[in-house]
Formats: sequence, structure tokens, C-alpha cells
Amino acid sequence: MHIKVLGSGAGGGLPQWNCNAPNSKDARDGHENVKPRSQSSITVSADGRNWVLLNASPDIRQQIFDTRQLHPHNDGPVRNSPIQAVVLTNGDVDHVAGLLCLREGHPFNIYASARVMKTVDANSIFNVLNAEKVNRITTPLEQSFEVNSPEGPLGLTITPFAVPGKVALYLEEDDGSGNFGTEEGDTIGLEVKEDETGKIFYYIPGCATIDEKLAARIKGASLIFFDGTLFTNNEMLDQGLLPKTGERMGHMNMSGENGSLEAFKDLGIKRKVYIHINNSNPVLRDNSPERKVVTDAGWDVSYDGMEIEL
Ligand code: MLT
Ligand code: MN
Repeated sequence: MHIKVLGSGAGGGLPQWNCNAPNSKDARDGHENVKPRSQSSITVSADGRNWVLLNASPDIRQQIFDTRQLHPHNDGPVRNSPIQAVVLTNGDVDHVAGLLCLREGHPFNIYASARVMKTVDANSIFNVLNAEKVNRITTPLEQSFEVNSPEGPLGLTITPFAVPGKVALYLEEDDGSGNFGTEEGDTIGLEVKEDETGKIFYYIPGCATIDEKLAARIKGASLIFFDGTLFTNNEMLDQGLLPKTGERMGHMNMSGENGSLEAFKDLGIKRKVYIHINNSNPVLRDNSPERKVVTDAGWDVSYDGMEIEL
């Protein structure tokens, strides 16, 4: 199975357009230890020719340009694209806005939970995707589905499952419940299986906590991409960027006793890769002590263009 990281950053990317905090400033200035990152998305293929996107980021046009695997096939008709399907893990702007760039009449399938598809359906701007060519397929949680192009199977089977998280920022309701109107299916993880080999990886770019059910599911996995938004819960407050904790945003941080480094310690996962890394996170600096902490704990910090063969 072929996997390529199109974007490793969280919403806003690195540098973020209106941010001059050290990570963004240094990325903008071409600092050798702080590489720019686009917004999170990966692409997967069983045959190396037809590709599935996991989320569609606002940076998708540039991501396609930078990714030779996603260029139109030279042996195809004048209009063609290797992108055959898009699977969404939530309704966040950084994960759905790229759908708008996939107009121009190319046939593909969109897969999403009922909650996320409801958001897509409710926003008429997505009707720019011609309904005769772009199929919207709602996928029930915990039910495996074959990922298809409009023409047939792509050799991958995905199982979507709910993970602890939060509804998209623009859908938050201040209903006093403390969960901002979040319902099951607002944030999901994906188990991606290659049919021919049975190889599996997990894609969880947003997650608020690892409960027992999630820990049992991912235990012993060969590969996981996981929410790397923040190193510490308070880092956006500490840097004067946003008066919100990671907890409030539905993202667990890396460090500390409630962090992902600790939660993954005994899960026996062979390869662990952080993705959806916010521009505030010190691990984005190649030579930072925090980067050393996560790499010493066996984690990779993903970067745009990273390729993994499973
Ligand atoms: C998130 O990951 O929490 C969202 O992308 C935040 C946002 O919409 O800015
Ligand atoms: Mn996000």
C-alpha cells in the first residue's frame, strides 16, 4: 500500500497567513530548521495509479501540483485525474474546503459519516461538484466499506469509527452542555485496509482523548497517523495566539500525563506518525528539545511529501 502525506500542518498551515509568532515567521523567512507545511491530508493507493484522498484541504491545488502521483496520467484522455475518491474525517474547514477545488467535472466518490455529510449537504456551495459525476456516500460508523471510484473498486476497504472529539468550529452551539453540540460521528478515525495484502493502518488526525475502546482498537497496529496538533494544552494561550486550550478545541496534546506520548507508550504500535501539527507546536522546529522528546519516544513528525510503503 502506498501512502503519501500531502499536508502535515493543522488548520492555517505553517506559516499561517496572519501569524508572526516564531514558527510562522521562521518558516516564512526560510529558516533551515522550520519547514513550511500545508494543511492536513494524505493520499493512499493500492495500485500506485488510482488514489484516494483522506480529507481535502484548502491547499489541495498546490498539494496536487507538488505530488507527481496526483498529476493527470499522460496515457489518459485530456481530462483525467488519478484522484478517485475522498474520505472525510470531520467537517473542519481544513479538511473539507479542498472539495471546492475538485470541480471541473471529474467523476469521484465522497465518503463521510452521516453527521459530516449533513454539513456538506447543507452548504450549497458544494453543489459546484456536479451531482451526476460526484457521488456522496454516507458511511455508517463501524461498518466496513469498499472504497470505489465511480467505475469500480480501488482495492482498499475502510472502517470508519467515532473518536472523542468536537464538532467543527463553525457548527459549535453554545448550548451550555459543555460539548458545543458535538454528536457521535462529528470526528471519526479510519482503519484503512489493503484488500490484497490485508495490511492495515489507522488515520486519526483529530482526537480529544484515547479511551479504552480506542486503545484496544489500535493496539499493536503497524502504522498510525495521529493528532499532533499541540505539544502542550496551553501553548496557544502562552504564545498569545488564541485564548483556547487544546482541550477546548478537541485535540489532545502530546506531552504530560494526559498526552498522546504517554497514552501510546504501551500500545506496541510499530510506526507512529504525528500529523495535523499546529503552527504553535515546538516540534515543528527540527532542532527543538520537544522534537527530540517525540522522536526519542519513537514518533515521526510527518512532513509534506513524506512517503510510506506499507
Ligand atoms: C481544528 O482542527 O480544531 C479545526 O480545524 C479548527 C479550525 O477550524 O480552525
Ligand atoms: Mn483542523
